[in-house]
Amino acid sequence: MEIKKVGILGCGLMGSGIAQVSASAGFETVVKEVSDEFITKGFLEIEKSLAKFAEKGTINAPQQKQIRDRLSGTTSFADLADCDIVIEAIIENLDEKRKTYAELDRVCKPETIFASNTSSISITAMMTATSAERQTRFVGMHFFNPVPLMKLVEIIRTILTDDQVYEQAVAFGATLGKVPVRAGDKTGFIVNRLLVPYMLDAIRGLEEGVGSIVDIDTAMKLGCGYPMGPFTLGDFVGLDTTYYIAEIMFNEFREKRFAPPPLLKRMVLAGLYGRKAGRGFYDYTKDPKNPTPMSLL
Ligand code: CAA
Repeated sequence: MEIKKVGILGCGLMGSGIAQVSASAGFETVVKEVSDEFITKGFLEIEKSLAKFAEKGTINAPQQKQIRDRLSGTTSFADLADCDIVIEAIIENLDEKRKTYAELDRVCKPETIFASNTSSISITAMMTATSAERQTRFVGMHFFNPVPLMKLVEIIRTILTDDQVYEQAVAFGATLGKVPVRAGDKTGFIVNRLLVPYMLDAIRGLEEGVGSIVDIDTAMKLGCGYPMGPFTLGDFVGLDTTYYIAEIMFNEFREKRFAPPPLLKRMVLAGLYGRKAGRGFYDYTKDPKNPTPMSLL
């Protein structure tokens, strides 16, 4: 089966980014959200990103229009019925995802491949909300933020994933302009298994006074050539998201390296989620951003 029509569930940060790369790669792309308001918001982000590419000359005006024309929004599952692949990027909550997959399974044609963009929830645990036939057509496709720029996609298979379906998902990832890597259904897959303990260790280092926020960030940027230091990255990803992923990984592996440090928990409880909240390890209400004083943390 050739992939021609792509469905995206969720038009938040990740869903809108995936929809953008799908439409940019030439696929008819339909995005489902719970309300028109969320679709409008997500499509606005796509517009902003396309405008940046247009400004740089990566795409021209007619291409921008073609990409827009390939995109449509809906609030109805029925509009995903004839999609060849549906990529889900809704809230990271297993119950919500299972409910969504059960509904999607009833609506979609038997050949539709189901792919989840989850960063930490077990693909197997979601897959079992669908019929036995669909379970063989179920994979993970984990993209990275910002999706239009980040070149990687992790393609995750379960014990039941059909070999051909898996290879098709790998090939599809490449068609989207990404570099696919293969990963098993082990919580965190490849990137978060390595990245999350690193970010948590940076917070533990801060708690222990090994260095300041700015110095730890600068050290990792200049010492390792990373585009962002761990605190800038945590604020960028969202400290609530980082905390949530760490909790899932800790529950799965019961290893200390995945345990969220108390400082991270306190910041999340206080609503310091990072860039999207205006405050995290840095204060984004000022330009340039200021590190949050250690006396407050
Ligand atoms: N669409 C199009 N263009 C964009 C864009 C977007 N969404 N976001 C940024 N850009 C463009 C900017 O306009 C800018 O263009 P110019 O060079 O022409 O000015 C360029 O990209 C660089 O952006 P910035 O100057 O704002 O900042 P930067 O040089 O630091 O690059 C970055 C931004 C690409 C995000 C870079 O900092 C980076 O790679 N950071 C690390 C991101 C990362 O690690 N992501 C993974 C997070 S983990 C995850 O996602 C998985 C999970 O499960 C939690």
